[in-house]
Amino acid sequence: MNTMLVTGGAGFIGSNFVKLVLGEYRDIRVINIDALTYAGNLENLKDVEEDENYSFVHGDICDRELIKEIFSKNKIDYVVNFAAESHVDRSITNPDVFVKTNVLGTQVLLDEAKRAWKLDPEDKYSKEYREGVKYLQVSTDEVYGALGKTGFFTETTPLSPNSPYSASKASADMLVKAYYTTFGMPVNITRCSNNYGPYQFPEKLIPLMINNCTKKEALPVYGDGMQIRDWLHVSDHCRGIMTVLEKGRLGEVYNIGGNNEKANIEIVGLVIEKTGASRDLIKYVKDRPGHDRRYAIDNTKITTELGWTPRYTFEEGIEETVRWYLENPSWINNITSGEYQNYYKKMYN
Ligand code: NAD
Ligand code: TYD
Repeated sequence: MNTMLVTGGAGFIGSNFVKLVLGEYRDIRVINIDALTYAGNLENLKDVEEDENYSFVHGDICDRELIKEIFSKNKIDYVVNFAAESHVDRSITNPDVFVKTNVLGTQVLLDEAKRAWKLDPEDKYSKEYREGVKYLQVSTDEVYGALGKTGFFTETTPLSPNSPYSASKASADMLVKAYYTTFGMPVNITRCSNNYGPYQFPEKLIPLMINNCTKKEALPVYGDGMQIRDWLHVSDHCRGIMTVLEKGRLGEVYNIGGNNEKANIEIVGLVIEKTGASRDLIKYVKDRPGHDRRYAIDNTKITTELGWTPRYTFEEGIEETVRWYLENPSWINNITSGEYQNYYKKMYN
């Protein structure tokens, strides 16, 4: 039995990942640490909360004593770090917490994993670690910055982040790389494109548009709506992370993406069509400052080297996703009834 420390497992991707691991890898015990910020929701995990392979710790990845205690009480084999502030718009109004969680939190996890895993933690020259351990940093294609009309992000594209969110994720990636180069830590970094699927917080494009369509509220499209994102179903992302955890060469970065570029206005059109809302709800609003025009992933490395390919077509994935939100109104209503109202008013009015 191996033990995996998942951080941020009560969020969108983390909760989908925890359920994938508990469902398909019965030889892995999962410890999920999550601070339960506005984005963390234990309701996402209610199907697995009684699972004997699962335990939850309510805590902050920046809390060094707590992280140290988790490593000392458990023989952790893998760390998969999802915990982050993840929304670009929030990073524009309040960057501080992005640096704290995304950068400093990553450093605490790296340090404590190193301390627990290094055979001789006192020897700064030694690069020997317990057999089979690995730290995986869940990163994003946004660290590469923006593309023009052509080209793709490869793993060697220089980092050129534009938002406080992507700058904090790029900083974390650089720390992970430094721990590999300097200390020989067994690490991987994955950089995925935009995810969609069940349990995504409705501040992000797709669930926000679904929610507003069902409530017949305006659909705020930034700028001209022609910005392009490369969409991947969350379950394909989670399988990609497991593939890299199992087979990724140490110290390597793997991009994860499914060759599915769509302009935002196309996405909004699809959501309108699938929810039966009116196109009159579309409202072009002032653009996001520093808005990246286009993201697109070259997935050659993960597909050819590790044999990962996405299972979902976008058509299947979006159909199923819209249906999930329509069939789970209480999930979205619980979220949007509280603090979300204040966020929404401040952001869009
Ligand atoms: P999310 O905002 O839905 O979830 C983040 C989770 O982290 C929440 O449960 C939150 O409570 C927790 N958290 C925040 N600060 C914490 C702290 N200090 N200590 C412990 N837990 C904390 O985010 P998501 O969309 O699920 O993204 C997860 C990860 O994947 C992030 O690292 C993000 O950068 C990365 N990523 C996201 C996407 C995407 O499209 N959503 C794409 C590529 C990469
Ligand atoms: P988002 O889901 O915030 O992801 P990211 O900024 O990390 O790519 O946004 C996806 C795209 O949708 C992005 O180009 C911004 C745009 N967008 C809107 O046009 N309106 C909105 O209300 C939101 C939340 C996003």
